[in-house]
Amino acid sequence: MKGIILAGGSGTRLYPLTKGQSKQLLAIHDKPMIYYPLSVLMLAGIKDILLISTPSDLPNFKRLFENGNHIGLNISYAEQKNPNGIAEAFIIGENFIGNDNVCLILGDNIFYGGGFTKLLKKGLEKVNKSNDALVFGYYVNDAKRYGVVENDQNGNVISIEEKPQHPKSNYAVVGLYFYPNSVVEIAKKISPSNRGELEITSVNQFYLKNKQLKVELLDDDFTWLDSGTHESMLEASNYIHTIEKRKGLKVACIEEIAYLLGYISKTDLMKIAEPIQNNPYGKYLMEKVLK
Ligand code: DAU
Repeated sequence: MKGIILAGGSGTRLYPLTKGQSKQLLAIHDKPMIYYPLSVLMLAGIKDILLISTPSDLPNFKRLFENGNHIGLNISYAEQKNPNGIAEAFIIGENFIGNDNVCLILGDNIFYGGGFTKLLKKGLEKVNKSNDALVFGYYVNDAKRYGVVENDQNGNVISIEEKPQHPKSNYAVVGLYFYPNSVVEIAKKISPSNRGELEITSVNQFYLKNKQLKVELLDDDFTWLDSGTHESMLEASNYIHTIEKRKGLKVACIEEIAYLLGYISKTDLMKIAEPIQNNPYGKYLMEKVLK
């Protein structure tokens, strides 16, 4: 399975913060926002990753991750010239996806919770075996702001709608999606919505019509945060800070994950950590991870 991180968009909701740089490179506590979705793909065992962003922001992502080899990944890059919608990721990524299935994650989504790796692996296997698409639902107070999924007791989707006035459930569709290879052709078929975007929800509605859409609900003790406003960014930073301080462990530390997954050696990690050992991030890698 291939992985795509979509990290474009205009970011106007966060101006002036995002006038000079991409939203997904802003800090969530001690690391760039994009580390969080990247860590999710890593935990799912996905190593071939396409990062899509705007022509002006792409050079900054390239500076941050290069080709990803230092953390055992193959990261490539592609431009989304205009924010034409989330589903455009599959059209832009067509050659990269090739004949594989694909996992898409939005560059501003943050996940935290026990059993996540297991859930990801299970989801990935399910899609590889069944050719169904898989989305995840998370109980929220304000479902209107999101894609909303209504399901039956067997995990079958009954309806899925984008930002409905009258949500049929409290389950928001999170920005993490597993698709069979057919998603590329489906993304080419859908039409732009009223707001002029190729909606990911339209893709999901297509799978639903074909009875090929499954949903997995995330447990209540799981945390899903999106960081689209000043307030939600601050809340996300505080949340990560609290957890990291309490546990003495980092969330979404991609260098640590690469080491624990056996993608890189002790010497490789040392090369990353040593030059920054005077800051808390480098110190963590040196003193906690490398011990
Ligand atoms: O976060 C989950 C939600 O994400 C889902 O519940 C919705 O179904 C889905 O449509 C999406 O809703 P948002 O209103 O959050 O989408 P937004 O336009 O804010 O885009 C989400 C991220 O994707 C954002 O970081 C920018 C990036 N993006 C968005 C578009 C439309 C792109 O890189 N390119 C795009 O063309």
